[in-house]
Amino acid sequence: NYYAILMAGGVGSRFWPVSTEDFPKQFHDMLGTGDTLIQKTFNRLANLIPKENIFILTNARYSDLVFKQLPEVTKRQVVLEPAMRNTAPCILYASLKIQKENPEAVMIVAPSDHWIEDEKAFVANVKQAFEFCYKNNALMTLGIQPTFPNTGYGYIEFESTSAEEIKEVRQFREKPDYETAKSFISQGNFLWNAGIFMWSVKSVIESYQVNQPELFELFKQGLDVYNTRDEAGFIQENYDKAENISVDFAIMEKSDKVYVLPATFDWNDLGTWGSLYDKLNKDENDNAVVNARTLTADASGNMIRTKDNKIVVVDGLKDYIIVDKEEVLLIFPKQKEQDIKKVLQQVKDEF
Ligand code: GDD
Ligand code: MG
Repeated sequence: NYYAILMAGGVGSRFWPVSTEDFPKQFHDMLGTGDTLIQKTFNRLANLIPKENIFILTNARYSDLVFKQLPEVTKRQVVLEPAMRNTAPCILYASLKIQKENPEAVMIVAPSDHWIEDEKAFVANVKQAFEFCYKNNALMTLGIQPTFPNTGYGYIEFESTSAEEIKEVRQFREKPDYETAKSFISQGNFLWNAGIFMWSVKSVIESYQVNQPELFELFKQGLDVYNTRDEAGFIQENYDKAENISVDFAIMEKSDKVYVLPATFDWNDLGTWGSLYDKLNKDENDNAVVNARTLTADASGNMIRTKDNKIVVVDGLKDYIIVDKEEVLLIFPKQKEQDIKKVLQQVKDEF
C-alpha cells in the first residue's frame, strides 16, 4: 500500500544559468555524480516504494525530460500539469487518482531536488512515519534541526513536553520574516520543514475537503474519469481553474492532526549555488569543481562548473560562483547568490 508523489514542477531560478525554465535543476546532474536530481530521488524512494507506485507530478512542458530520464515509469504514473499552480493542487489531484486505485494507500510526498546523504536513515525514518500514519490518521512531516534563521523555509513548533520521538505539532508557520525566524530558533522547540510529507490518502483528502473546499470540489468532479482515457481532457479543461497555493499554506498550516518526526539524516534543499557548494567535495583550496579541470592560484571558496569539462584558470578570486554554459558565463559573488533570480530577469529584459 506504499505510494510516492514526486514533485518536479519547479523552475530553480537561483541555479541559473544551468537551471532554466526549459530545463530546470531537477533534470540536471547538479552534484556531478552521473545521476540527475530527479533520478537520485526516484532511486531513493524505490528503496521503499514499489517503482510502479511512484507518481511524478510536473509541468506538461517537461514530459519528454521525465520519460527520458526515468524510462521505467509509465504514462499512468505521470501527471502532466497544463499550468503552474504550485504544490497544493497537484498533490490533491494525484492523491485522488491514487485513492481511486487504492483507498488504503499511504504515501510520501517528496521534492525532486533535495540532497540527502544517508539513504538508510531516510528509509528508516519514512517507514517509522508510515506506521504512525496508518494508526493515527495523521499528517506527518520530517523536521530538520535549524542552524540559522532561514526565511525560505517553513517552521514547525512541536509540543516540547512529549518524550515520544514523533512530536505533535503546535503550529506550522510557512516562511516567517527574519525576526520571527530568529525568535523561533531561540525558543528551541522549532524545526525546519523538510518539505517531505507522509500521510494516508484518506487523511490528506479529508484535510483538503475541510480546508480547501473549492479546490476539493473542482478536482472531485474528475473522479469518474481519473485513470481513464478521458482524464487528459479533464485536466486540460480544469487544472488552471485551481488556486495557485502551496501545500504548506493550503493544508499544513490549517490542519489539526499534524505530527513531525525529527529526521536522523543530514539534509540540504539545494536551493542555491552556495548550498550546493557546501555539499560538494572541495579541492585543496576549498574550491568545489564540477565538470571542469582547474588551474588555480590565490583562489578559494569558489563554486566552479562548466559544461564540457573545460579548463578554467582562476587567479585572485575568493568565494565566487563561476558557471559556464554555451551562451552564458556567470561570475558572481557567493554572498549575493539570492540576487541571481533578479539578474536573470534583467538578462531576459536586456537580451
Ligand atoms: N509538480 C509541481 N508543480 N511541482 C512543483 C510546483 C508545481 O506547480 N511548484 C513547485 N514544485 C516542486 C518544486 O520543484 C520542489 O521540488 C517542490 O515542489 C517544493 O517547491 P518549492 O518552490 O521549492 O518550495 P519552497 O522551497 O519554497 O518551500 C517548501 O520547501 C521547503 C524546504 O525546501 C516548503 O515546503 C517549506 O516549508 C520547506 O521548508
Ligand atoms: Mg525549494
